[in-house]
Amino acid sequence: MHETVYISETPLDYRKDYGQFFTPPAVARIMVEWVMKDHPETILDPAFGLGVFYDEVRKIDSDQQIQFTGYEIDENILNYFYHNNYGNNIRLFNDDYLEADTGSFDGIICNPPYMRFQKFLKRHDVLPKIEEKIGKKLVGYSNIASIFLMKSLCELNKNGRLAFIMPLEFFNTGYGKEVKRSLLEKHLLKHIIIFENEKEVFPEATTTVCILLCKRDNKKENIKITLIKSEEEINTRPDIDDLPCRQLHPDNLPYDKKWSPVILSLFSKQKIPKGFCELYLYGAFKRGIATGANEFFALSKSKIEELNISKKNLLKCITKSPQVNKTIFTESDFEDLFYADKPVYCLDVKDHNDLSVINYIKVGEQAGFSNRYLTRIKNPWYKIERRQPAPILFGVFNRGRLKVIRNYSTAVNFTCFHSFYPSLLGYNIIDKLFVYFLSDVGNTVIKMNKRSYGGNLEKLEPGDLNECLCPNQDQFALMQKEEVEKIIETAKINKELAVQISNELIARIINN
Ligand SMILES: C[S@@+](CC[C@H](N)C(=O)[O-])C[C@H]1O[C@@H](n2cnc3c(N)ncnc32)[C@H](O)[C@@H]1O
Repeated sequence: MHETVYISETPLDYRKDYGQFFTPPAVARIMVEWVMKDHPETILDPAFGLGVFYDEVRKIDSDQQIQFTGYEIDENILNYFYHNNYGNNIRLFNDDYLEADTGSFDGIICNPPYMRFQKFLKRHDVLPKIEEKIGKKLVGYSNIASIFLMKSLCELNKNGRLAFIMPLEFFNTGYGKEVKRSLLEKHLLKHIIIFENEKEVFPEATTTVCILLCKRDNKKENIKITLIKSEEEINTRPDIDDLPCRQLHPDNLPYDKKWSPVILSLFSKQKIPKGFCELYLYGAFKRGIATGANEFFALSKSKIEELNISKKNLLKCITKSPQVNKTIFTESDFEDLFYADKPVYCLDVKDHNDLSVINYIKVGEQAGFSNRYLTRIKNPWYKIERRQPAPILFGVFNRGRLKVIRNYSTAVNFTCFHSFYPSLLGYNIIDKLFVYFLSDVGNTVIKMNKRSYGGNLEKLEPGDLNECLCPNQDQFALMQKEEVEKIIETAKINKELAVQISNELIARIINN
């Protein structure tokens, strides 16, 4: 198969530069079926690659009635396609789609390249032309995939159908608002397909993806949402319209709100409770300290003694996620780690004339730590970001339940945890917030903003956490101080029981 040959003969960096990741044929088939439902005469693929969509179209259009047009920027990949037998109903342009004046089509089908628009060299020339075409201003930090989509939507004929693979992030990001607006404006968006574990369906994908199915019929109707659970489901399903789906009225998907929580809550037993507000009312999550050379900065008791570094040049610091296994982390837990010789101090040079520190910095320079990606842009290279100890910590990567910690210690943390810094409002209810995070409702609602990395590994960025939903002030006011204290005391010795009591308490305040 030409894809296997191409991948084996092409360096990964080259493919990454062009965003060359391929659509599995079973997925291409669903997309092609959608686009061909109304018997199109013309079909466009703006990012042709090795032509998987063309191959699938040919299987249905055996007598080559359809005029197929493809754009592909990379001549090299096209040469692999030209080695095959292909029909005479295809026009292929070795051009940049974003610059091309393509005309319009009855069907458009695409797996666009994913990369930040800033990486796109010709963006300064291209952007004004596209903005003129779509009649909208685009923000410079868009993903190139969204620019492909917005251009293609303008090139779709009346009653034409479009199928696009898109990185799911546009549901929630700032630049995604314009994309969502374009999809909703003329009621184009008809069906969204998401994947429970896209690594199984898209082994090549480096980001979470979805498929968008659109039709330019100007009919306001419910938007279908399908969650594909396994590859088998795509292979065995009879027709795209028979895929099991939920339906959402378009008014429930406003372009200026995040879509992930609404869409994911359709498939979760947990619905977002009434009255919930966004977390940033109570404070904000920040990532932990990024040193760029943890093995140099993180120091254990024995290392500190060996180097003779004094406490004034050290900072108490959680440097690895497994150091905190308890839900409640106290100063005494910190001391236990220190005496167990875990690296729980971070070099934080305050006395630049201290001989021991000077010597250790020299050792670091000799080992090349001063030339790392993050250290070389700092002045001096061993300068540490300033952070206060945070009262609540969240694990960055989670499998299953979220790793949430109530931190009573005076330790700061590296990037293994995100740190919650409360506003004044949040400060006064910090324990109540913790109880919510601990509960099943909190876990499920927060995870609606997650990014999946395959193998059930889930990642939350500080931005995802800041925009997650939680009880409003009136709901928190229904929690009694004693009840909250009891949960925290319980969590010190029995996490499962603490979760159970939190669940009862949260159920009471949301059903009140
Ligand atoms: C994600 S791949 C998809 C390939 C194929 N359609 C598939 O689904 O397997 C995107 C393709 O778009 C090409 N590409 C990248 N930038 C482009 C541009 N500005 N114009 C046209 N093609 C582009 C890449 O070289 C790559 O082959």
